[in-house]
Amino acid sequence: MRPSEAGWELDLRGGRGHFPLPVKSILENAMMTTNLAAADNARPAADHPEALVRVDDFQYPQGWIPPAAAAGRTRQCCEQLEAGQVLFLDRIPYLFPQADREFLLLQRQSGSRLHKNVSYRPQQDVLRGAAGDREEQARLHDIMRRYSAEVARFLGQLLQPYAAHWTLDYASFRPEEEQGRDLPVHKRNDLLHVDSFPTRPMHGRRILRCFSNINPTAPRVWNTTDEFSVLAQQFAAEAGLAGFAERGSARGNALARGVKKMFGLKGADHSAYDRFMLRFHDYLKENTGFQQNCRKVRIEFPPGSTWICFTDSVPHAVLSGQYALEQTFIVGLSGLVAPDKAPIRVLEKMAGRVLANAA
Ligand code: SIN
Ligand code: FE
Repeated sequence: MRPSEAGWELDLRGGRGHFPLPVKSILENAMMTTNLAAADNARPAADHPEALVRVDDFQYPQGWIPPAAAAGRTRQCCEQLEAGQVLFLDRIPYLFPQADREFLLLQRQSGSRLHKNVSYRPQQDVLRGAAGDREEQARLHDIMRRYSAEVARFLGQLLQPYAAHWTLDYASFRPEEEQGRDLPVHKRNDLLHVDSFPTRPMHGRRILRCFSNINPTAPRVWNTTDEFSVLAQQFAAEAGLAGFAERGSARGNALARGVKKMFGLKGADHSAYDRFMLRFHDYLKENTGFQQNCRKVRIEFPPGSTWICFTDSVPHAVLSGQYALEQTFIVGLSGLVAPDKAPIRVLEKMAGRVLANAA
């Protein structure tokens, strides 16, 4: 880790961190920003207790090494994720042929007009946002189908307690350079936020995401900050938690809800929890004081690395990077090892009310 303009930086590339600032200034920064120790990649993950946990004892295709440690390690990983940490692997720990990677990188370089993201819906086996001729689209579809199945297999081993409780959600390929993108404020990826999906109400279930940086040379750079429970204490009241809790899940009459549902429109089946989380996402992005002044930890995910976190509780902003693959899982509350830490439970405690029925 080293100090940078934005705060502290976890450099995961290997070698020792260097400190261009005088020691006094480093200590002052450390007190203002984070209690992480100076970075040294050779150190075990436990030295980065706040933001990031390295997982070095999981290999493809063997899985956990040694296999006898699997039960304990897989549960520990779930605990770490639910405590708001990011699991980091310095490789791609699932089958991902070099030819597929080359094809994905070429897609952009050849100038074909891809959408902002290419999305893949594994339940329906549907690819969206792809351009190119039929053959290219079929190849891309093939790659995304295989990628999605491989990540599901990998995470089923890494996070075994969740596997019986999750729904495989969408996967995406992100071929755009993130730095300098011109997007409306609520869509900006470079502002810190926690995730919520307008089209998929969660009712308290968790959003778990697995990312791989397939860029051959450039890192993907994130900022993160204090996790959900801290931000909720600070901002949930101002973002209107009491009002959302009061109004509950009912909105509009049954007919209007039915029509909305038919057309797959926002609001069809949203609980008070979902409404609040959608608002909180926008509230955080709109809050320039928070964006400018909050404590930041900058993380560089190097080429060829993989990371996993609950993005509904780990605030994140992507500052730069191009060519990432991502697969989302929706994890039911009954699959969590520490359900009391879930955002819905944190908010219910604060609001003194139930915010969604059975998740
Ligand atoms: C996000 O904000 O969910 C996107 C993060 C990324 O693309 O790295
Ligand atoms: Fe996000």
